[in-house]
Amino acid sequence: MKTQAVRWGIIGTGRIARAFAEGLWHTSNGRLCAIASRNEGSAKAFAEEWDINHAFGQYEELAHSDAVDAVYIATPHSSHAENSILCMNNQKAVLCEKPFAVNSMEVKRMIQASKENNVLLMEGMWSRFPPLMNKLREWLESGKLGDIRTLHADFGFLPKQRDPLGRLFNLELAGGSLLDLGIYPVSLASMILGKPSSMQTLPNMGPTGVDEQAAWIFRYPCGALAMLLSSLQCETRQEAFISGSLGNIRIHKQCWKPQKMTFTETNGVANETIEMPFKGNGFNYEAESFGNLFLEGKKESPIMSLSESLEIMSQLDQIRKEWNLIYPMDRQ
Ligand SMILES: NC(=O)c1ccc[n+]([C@@H]2O[C@H](COP(=O)([O-])OP(=O)(O)OC[C@H]3O[C@@H](n4cnc5c(N)ncnc54)[C@H](OP(=O)(O)O)[C@@H]3O)[C@@H](O)[C@H]2O)c1
Repeated sequence: MKTQAVRWGIIGTGRIARAFAEGLWHTSNGRLCAIASRNEGSAKAFAEEWDINHAFGQYEELAHSDAVDAVYIATPHSSHAENSILCMNNQKAVLCEKPFAVNSMEVKRMIQASKENNVLLMEGMWSRFPPLMNKLREWLESGKLGDIRTLHADFGFLPKQRDPLGRLFNLELAGGSLLDLGIYPVSLASMILGKPSSMQTLPNMGPTGVDEQAAWIFRYPCGALAMLLSSLQCETRQEAFISGSLGNIRIHKQCWKPQKMTFTETNGVANETIEMPFKGNGFNYEAESFGNLFLEGKKESPIMSLSESLEIMSQLDQIRKEWNLIYPMDRQ
């Protein structure tokens, strides 16, 4: 039976699980009811920190729990498909962190599980949900840019530690800059320009066998070009710049956490800067949107559709194929 507030569970107790728990405090339609870890001690500590009623020492226990409507998957990319499918097969709605999975084969299995179980499923591409992105979609639809000709977008940061076993650099955990960071510019390009007709890419592969930075260009049927970049070797501008025949839009740093943008006409006359600071830590927007879909009985988000998530993952597959970057999950 549906409740008026979504009863959330989280799988995984790492960095992003904490951010999402905080985000939920700022929603009007969600409350955090359960946490699961591979380790009972971690689950209990997390439950105490966030005042959660149910703490499970196994992911399966949360998936089976009657105290949960929807599950946020906060594990490394390599576990997203398995954890999501476990929850959906137990009739839970699933919001799964980005990247949705490691490859499109896994995404197809996730979509199939959502259809078979008739449950809501969405990729947690949180950048799509802040209020500024609604404004950006409004500006794009208004035609004030004219014909869009180019997009520049990048996401690079320098991790504090270079742990070869950690999820960022570990091949076994589907590490690398493309899946972790490149997904943001790819997703933005998909939202603005749709499906590319061709692509050119260049990676820098590191000693652990994953891409530590990469640049790629997408071309679109309309002739527009997107120049995209991801890096685990340095902090980049972290901005997006959309140029059209009538003007351009700059999404200021950090464009993956969008709160400020500027429109400039091509002749430079009219400037309009909009700032929409987060209320909450930003994760509340995707959680609120997902919660509304759940309470309305919807099975998919119009803002981050399953077909688009699949298309984006196919693009990442194609890029990795060019680099011969093969993860263990690609062999299954
Ligand atoms: N939206 C965003 O802005 C954003 C930012 C950062 C990360 N993310 C995404 O969130 C996911 C998790 O990232 P994170 O930074 O939170 O990672 P993290 O701090 O390493 O936490 C991941 C958690 O997953 C669980 N886990 C399950 N299998 C694991 C394994 N083999 N190795 C390590 N941990 C494992 C662990 O929880 P237990 O030990 O409790 O089971 C761990 O605490 C990634 O897919 C990443 O892309 C999103």
